[in-house]
Amino acid sequence: MRIGVFEVGRIGVGAWQAGGGSWRVNFAELRRAYEYVLDNGVSFIDTAEIYGWGRSEEFVGELIKGRPHVVVATKVAGFNWGRVVKSAERSRRRLGRIDLLQLHWPPPIYVPVCRAVRELERAAQLGLTAEIGVSNFDAGMMEKAIYCAKRYNLASDQVVYNPLQRAAEALIEMGRRAGFAVIAWSPLAKGAAVKEKVGADGGRRFDPAVRKAATPQGRRVVEAVRGIAARRGASPAAVVLAWHAARGSFPIPGVKTLTQAKEVVEALRLELSEAEVAEIDAASAVFRGGAVWPKALRLIPGPLQRLAFRLVKV
Ligand SMILES: NC(=O)c1ccc[n+]([C@@H]2O[C@H](COP(=O)([O-])OP(=O)(O)OC[C@H]3O[C@@H](n4cnc5c(N)ncnc54)[C@H](OP(=O)(O)O)[C@@H]3O)[C@@H](O)[C@H]2O)c1
Repeated sequence: MRIGVFEVGRIGVGAWQAGGGSWRVNFAELRRAYEYVLDNGVSFIDTAEIYGWGRSEEFVGELIKGRPHVVVATKVAGFNWGRVVKSAERSRRRLGRIDLLQLHWPPPIYVPVCRAVRELERAAQLGLTAEIGVSNFDAGMMEKAIYCAKRYNLASDQVVYNPLQRAAEALIEMGRRAGFAVIAWSPLAKGAAVKEKVGADGGRRFDPAVRKAATPQGRRVVEAVRGIAARRGASPAAVVLAWHAARGSFPIPGVKTLTQAKEVVEALRLELSEAEVAEIDAASAVFRGGAVWPKALRLIPGPLQRLAFRLVKV
């Protein structure tokens, strides 16, 4: 997969878990897991200023010292759309470098998309990042954003995508034509696409994919994934990550344990047959609709969003 000037392979890794926050983690184990993936073929890591309010970025900054092959992506919070440069400066201090700077979610409704894109371009012009991208932009917003970007191409759109949430498929198609990558967040549906029961971490409590996995239609998806995994002698996570590669998205799973890290690495070499991809597609066809991002969230003014994020653990 290409993200702007970077060739990043077929799977990256996400570091929300390293912020602690709403995730239950053992930090020593977590470090071993991330070290393992980055030393065994994964060359892209994603973080954000809001993950543990800088804690994840500090963790990633430590991790990438001595690993110059790793492409580092971070995200400026949507409510900081007007302070992109300041945010990026703070993030770069924690990370050491930024290769891809993304706006984490669309700005509030009263902010024209072009203004937010120009802020990203300003950060790139100042040399704070090599590439710029967005996150949680639907196809309509992405069309506007591409039109607004005058000096830099938008390299990527990071959106939710997994077999239980397939609304991003129109974007993947658009990205193929327009030349941007679709980075898939929650590629394993927070674990719900691959196992019978997921942990009770705070971030999962209201997660739509976790709820969908518990429905009869959701169970069929998990059964299809686990059936293919059993037949292939592979892990269910590797099957889902290989399905992403076949669908044209770039998954960035979060890992907590060395076992999970090994399953990510296993997925780098797993190719699904057309029939296997079609089996997962058919089981999950009911989940193709919906939106990549709830439009209503844009109605919340920026300062209120900031306050809300201060009050909850992210
Ligand atoms: N742009 C955005 O708005 C946005 C939103 C969310 C996330 N993200 C990014 O996307 C990354 C990934 O998303 P995510 O963490 O929400 O979801 P995910 O990658 O689908 O799920 C990660 C969770 O699944 C479980 N898991 C991981 N590997 C597994 C395996 N091999 N087998 C079984 N379970 C496994 C782990 O939890 P347990 O061990 O507890 O089961 C892990 O914490 C984040 O780290 C972040 O960088 C971006």
